[in-house]
Amino acid sequence: MQIAIDGPAGAGKSTIAKRLAKESGYIYVDTGAMYRAMALYLIRCGISAEDKEGIEKACEDADISIQYIDGEQNVVLNGENVNSLIRTREVSAMASSSSVNGKVREKLVSLQQKLASSNDVVMDGRDIGTKVLPEAEVKIYLTASTKVRAKRRFDELRAKGEACDMEAIENEIKERDHRDMTREISPLVQAKDAVLVDTSDMDIDTVVDRIKEIVKSKVKA
Ligand code: DC
Repeated sequence: MQIAIDGPAGAGKSTIAKRLAKESGYIYVDTGAMYRAMALYLIRCGISAEDKEGIEKACEDADISIQYIDGEQNVVLNGENVNSLIRTREVSAMASSSSVNGKVREKLVSLQQKLASSNDVVMDGRDIGTKVLPEAEVKIYLTASTKVRAKRRFDELRAKGEACDMEAIENEIKERDHRDMTREISPLVQAKDAVLVDTSDMDIDTVVDRIKEIVKSKVKA
């Protein structure tokens, strides 16, 4: 069973996908975390997002894998669990910039497909329904207005004690959306057979219920 959830940053993908996976006994695969681990490697090596050759060489040197600890996905970069290091704004921006690179995508898509070949999965990202799991039984395109998504990110960062500015966050989100939606390889688009869910005015329980309904109707069909 494959449930693919795509959408822009801050739409609520990971919160929803995690809940859904837990309730169905499937594994949750957060593909953004893999792009983030790759981005962390590039930042640590001082490789810029424009350095195509450097990034392609880094793809050979960065070993990225996934481990499940108490049901939680952990990303391992060259033997180091980097889960707690990949949620910064710097890593977000680098993940978006470096994910335009074909070699980066090839490497991570193959890891994602391998995970889905031996497990029932709820997988979220930008190209899951269109590229990674084109045959997924259920495809959801989760979105929300830019303002709502920026507010969610703002609250998240504030809760972590990170100083932040609402307007700057909204601009970063717009920039990231634009890059993710207009890149040449596997841009973020709604798959033809994906169901659109706009979470702007929904709380988490309502979104989960709505998606469970969609899953039920797809499975029945
Ligand atoms: O979902 P996220 O915010 O953790 O993703 C970080 C970046 O990684 C996102 O801006 C674009 C890239 N990404 C991607 O290109 N394809 C995916 N399937 C997941 C993430």
